[in-house]
Order: sequence, then structure tokens, then C-alpha cells
Amino acid sequence: MRPILAAILATAAFAADPDGAALYQEHCAMCHDHSAETRAPAPSALKMMSPENVVKALESGLMKDQGAPLAAAQKKTVAEFLTGKMIGAQQAAVTEQFSKSRLVFGCSNDEDLPDAGKHQC
Ligand code: HEC
Repeated sequence: MRPILAAILATAAFAADPDGAALYQEHCAMCHDHSAETRAPAPSALKMMSPENVVKALESGLMKDQGAPLAAAQKKTVAEFLTGKMIGAQQAAVTEQFSKSRLVFGCSNDEDLPDAGKHQC
């Protein structure tokens, strides 16, 4: 029983590895650091992608074979490392933009807005 438990714990610790750089070195660098020979986009090109799209490529896209050995959390970690962006950050920015634009469009007939809001109309 004990060795099995130890193996499970070791796997859990590996799955929770927070180091995107180490994951990249271990699973991706052999191709992505050698674009000329492999045609794999260089890290500078991957940086232009959204982290969500990198995860998608690893889950079901062009990189699904390469993503297969990675746990879901590791895919996210390596995607955030490569793009330098947090998953969900873009969505938060869009939501913020949306609520700002609603404030501007909604203010014309809203008498309750504070003076600062009315100046935007
Ligand atoms: C065996 C070599 C190899 C390995 C290992 C590899 N890749 Fe790739 N990767 C490629 C190649 C080649 C392409 C370009 C595929 C194409 O355009 O047809 C690519 C494309 C990509 C793309 C762009 C996909 C798209 O939809 O445009 C992403 C993102 C990516 N790789 C991430 C990773 C990550 C993250 C890892 C490590 C977990 C990894 N790759 C491991 C060879 C590799």
C-alpha cells in the first residue's frame, strides 16, 4: 500500500508543478527553440497568441499529441509562461470595457448619474 501512496503523491506533486519555464524546457523547447529545423513557431511568435489559444492547441489542436502528457494545470501554466499573459485576463479586460461603454451609452436619460457621469454624455 505504502509505495502506491508514495507514487500517487509524487504524481500529484508533479502535476502541480508551477514552473512554466521548466515545463517548456522539458516538453516544448526541443522543437520550439529550433524553428529553422522543426518549423515550430519560436517562443517570440507564441508570445503573440492568447494563453487560451495555446491551451486549446495543446488540448485539441495542432499540439494535442505534445500536450497529451501534460495535466490540465500544466497546460495552463506553460501557456501563461509562453504568452506572458494570465488566462482569463483578456476576458476581464473585455468585461471592463463593456461596462464602461454601457455607462457612456446609458447616461443620456439617466437622471440619477452623478455629475461626473453626466459630463461624459
Ligand atoms: C515534436 C516537436 C514539437 C514539440 C515537442 C512541441 N511542438 Fe508546438 N509546434 C510544433 C510545430 C512543428 C508547430 C507548427 C505546426 C503547424 O503549423 O503545422 C507547432 C505549433 C505550436 C503552436 C501553434 C499552434 C497553432 O494553432 O497555431 C503552439 C501554441 C505550440 N506549438 C505550443 C507547444 C507547446 C506549449 C509545447 C510543449 C508542451 C509544444 N508546442 C511542443 C512542434 C512541436
